[in-house]
Amino acid sequence: MGDQNARAVTDEAGGASSAIPALRWEEPPEGPVLVLLDQTRLPHEEVELVCTDVQALVQAIRSLAVRGAPLLGLAGAYGIALAAARGYDVNEAADLLAHARPTAVNLGYGVRRAVAAFRDAPPHQGAAVALAEARALHAEDAAASTAMARHGAQLLAELVPGGGYRLLTHCNTGALVSGGEGTALGVVLAAHRAGELRRLWVDETRPLLQGARLTAYEAARAGMPYTLLADNAAGSLFTAGEVDAVLVGADRIAADGSTANKVGSYPLAVLARYHHVPFVVVAPTTTIDLATPNGDAIEVEQRAGSEVTDLAPSPLGTQAYNPAFDVTPPELITAIITENGVVSPVTAESIVTVCNR
Ligand code: MRU
Repeated sequence: MGDQNARAVTDEAGGASSAIPALRWEEPPEGPVLVLLDQTRLPHEEVELVCTDVQALVQAIRSLAVRGAPLLGLAGAYGIALAAARGYDVNEAADLLAHARPTAVNLGYGVRRAVAAFRDAPPHQGAAVALAEARALHAEDAAASTAMARHGAQLLAELVPGGGYRLLTHCNTGALVSGGEGTALGVVLAAHRAGELRRLWVDETRPLLQGARLTAYEAARAGMPYTLLADNAAGSLFTAGEVDAVLVGADRIAADGSTANKVGSYPLAVLARYHHVPFVVVAPTTTIDLATPNGDAIEVEQRAGSEVTDLAPSPLGTQAYNPAFDVTPPELITAIITENGVVSPVTAESIVTVCNR
């Protein structure tokens, strides 16, 4: 087990924190550390995990203390910087980090960027250069959030004329998963700031409840009008005509536009198509993996069945099926919003074009 310490989050005056620092680098006299907001403890406790080594970070990734595709990319890059600064074997760190979770392509991307920077660095400057690369990725991700929010505002205005949007989201895609304000929730936040958000419908997102615990936490802090629902209540909302658009993030987008996202996204896409409601994916181009040809080639993480049985009382020994993600085919996706612009219709050609823009 790695070296991970927990500490309560307070602001400079010693009170409860007002910002959401999902991840940050610190350099105390004892040596550099990566500080994570422990997302497993939210919404009731704001506790930080202080990772002093790569093993602790890997453990935090596996337990979902740090999670969400773009943030995993940052964690991977800072993890390499941590390994380099602490004199740990960088190749070994890269292997451990890149394989901590299989589906979000950003994790391997962040690791590879920092490793390449480390290898290309002048003698004795590897650690500093790897850290600079992690910081650069962090800044790029923040800028991507801003651009996606801008493109999203335009797209929503086209898809839902008249404004006053009622948006449905799944899982968590805000500042907790990003160097900026997030992907799908970043677009929702922009609509809220523009006075155009009538209602955010938040799927609880079983079994780990990222919607209830994290999206509701972020929505409440932002003062959004939001309502939480059990995942299986979404159908009746569509029937009642209460959803203008579905906005979700992505963990990996294959070359053909097939999109892996939190399990439960695909049923929403099917519902949305049946009810003629736009289903929109919001993700930076770092989540697009042109090396993965289609949805069948995406490795979907299978997690412990106990995550399901812990939530749902069931006879001792009950087996549970617990894929962390599902894959939505491109024909069910109205549009993909990236920092480079909007992909619609979603085709292999339009995906390549947006990556090269
Ligand atoms: O298992 P998680 O909580 O890491 O899953 C996260 C999601 O599925 C998010 O919706 C996805 O990463 C997009 S985050 C911008």
